[in-house]
Amino acid sequence: MTIEEKIKNIFPADADIPEEARFTPLEQKEYLANGKIKNWTGPRREVLSPVSLVAKKGAERVRLGSYPLMTEKEALEALDAAVKAYDEGRGLWPTLGVEGRIAHMEEFVYRMKEQRASVVSLLMWEIGKSLEDSGKEFDRTVEYIVDTINALKDLDRASSRMTVAQGIIAQIKRAPLGVVLCMGPYNYPLNETFTTLIPAILMGNTVVFKPPKYGVLLHRPLLEAFRDSFPKGVVNTLYGEGRKIIGPIMKTGKVNVLAFIGSSKVADILKQQHPAPHRLRCVLGLDAKNAGIILPDADLDLAVSETLTGALSFNGQRCTALKILFVHRSAQSEFLEKLVTAIEGMKLGMPWEPKVKITPLPEDEKAPYLAEVIADAKQHGAKVINESGGLTNGNFVYPAVVYPVTEKMRLWSEEQFGPVIPVVPFSDIKEPLKYVVDSNFGQQVSVFGRDMDKIAPMLDTLVNQVCRVNVNSQCQRGPDVFPFTGRKDSAEGTLSVSDALRVFSIRTLVAAKESDANKALIRGILRDRKSKFLSTDFIL
Ligand code: G3H
Repeated sequence: MTIEEKIKNIFPADADIPEEARFTPLEQKEYLANGKIKNWTGPRREVLSPVSLVAKKGAERVRLGSYPLMTEKEALEALDAAVKAYDEGRGLWPTLGVEGRIAHMEEFVYRMKEQRASVVSLLMWEIGKSLEDSGKEFDRTVEYIVDTINALKDLDRASSRMTVAQGIIAQIKRAPLGVVLCMGPYNYPLNETFTTLIPAILMGNTVVFKPPKYGVLLHRPLLEAFRDSFPKGVVNTLYGEGRKIIGPIMKTGKVNVLAFIGSSKVADILKQQHPAPHRLRCVLGLDAKNAGIILPDADLDLAVSETLTGALSFNGQRCTALKILFVHRSAQSEFLEKLVTAIEGMKLGMPWEPKVKITPLPEDEKAPYLAEVIADAKQHGAKVINESGGLTNGNFVYPAVVYPVTEKMRLWSEEQFGPVIPVVPFSDIKEPLKYVVDSNFGQQVSVFGRDMDKIAPMLDTLVNQVCRVNVNSQCQRGPDVFPFTGRKDSAEGTLSVSDALRVFSIRTLVAAKESDANKALIRGILRDRKSKFLSTDFIL
């Protein structure tokens, strides 16, 4: 079968869905607020899968169910529940102490694991992520929670001792910040939401959390676990249109931390809505346009395999994806030939198929958008150099290699977030370096080459432009213990297992001049375990 024929026949019939991949539509009418799972009777949004099924009338998107379209009223109620549970830092949760909070989180992770099959299936159907990668996203998230618990134990152990300096005795620890609004992206709707939600909760904050536009239903199986594992008001969920429910929350000024992974445009709007921005801490993962630079002496087989997964894993819908490639003119023909062959070897299909790499896209407007930027590049002199590149069927878009891309084209600067690989030929290394320096984004870069005398000075330039320089390796966030951040429009704050505990807390200390009376007072408090904060107890 030609690629064109494969794309034409990409969608199966209902009977072709294997038994283990089948699902029952989920009509979600529940939301979690103030410790109760409440029943929603208002309007709901229909959820369609990126997957279509062929029936008599032709291919039609699969209906997965629906979720509540909540209003300002419920949004403010959820916020109030979180505000009350925090109670200006006097609530049960912020004063519980680290060991107590860890016990609640351990209960949650135990309950979460029981829901693996439902969450993974919904993840696959809602965003079209392959079954294999959906499973990996779930497992990576569980591992992240366990690692975060361990990192918090370490942090607490390290701060369980007293410090004496210049005649002052002190105990320095980290305390919560207040109410956190958590919003994750659709490409990692579980993992990236939880990389902020979990540390925020563990540090003693209370949370309002809204799933992304795509990837909502997959959170439903976890509602009972959230309700039963944490005191009331610690976790509250919201569903609906961001504009209607998030704006009113921000305007109250009661959100202390905005944890948002999405576009810088939306982040700017949300920040500006807060009446006292200096009171708002922001933890943001934003836009990126990571470049891959292929030097003349690069191992081209390696460069192709890394740039292929770098650019096309989950159809290029990763903030860390390689979104533009600079290839030295002396290597371009061989590199492009190998890249095109490698793309032809990628399996296209439905997310449940084993080893599938290219699947339909969840965003309704993505296929027309990609067609637009490809047309724009063609108009300015580029070509799609792989067979059937950019060919579309419903929400399915076949990867396109667009060459040669120049600064006149939208693909030069726009984050395509999809299966399009713009390739720019260069003669002088100053050209890609200038691109990275001039770019509005500053997340990561990948450099492919073997000559240390060429690579070393590039590293020294690039580390001051982005926040991770990958050598002969694709860009990526993991391992999750590494710092993940960006400059310019790409991020605010640093996330990693241990950094996240820091961003969702503030250092605070109890200090006293070293007088005999103060020593006796502190000794007494420690001995009789009168305080949860001023305590030398060591978590074992
Ligand atoms: O979408 C951005 C994610 O943080 C990327 O994570 O590099 O592990 O795919 P990843």
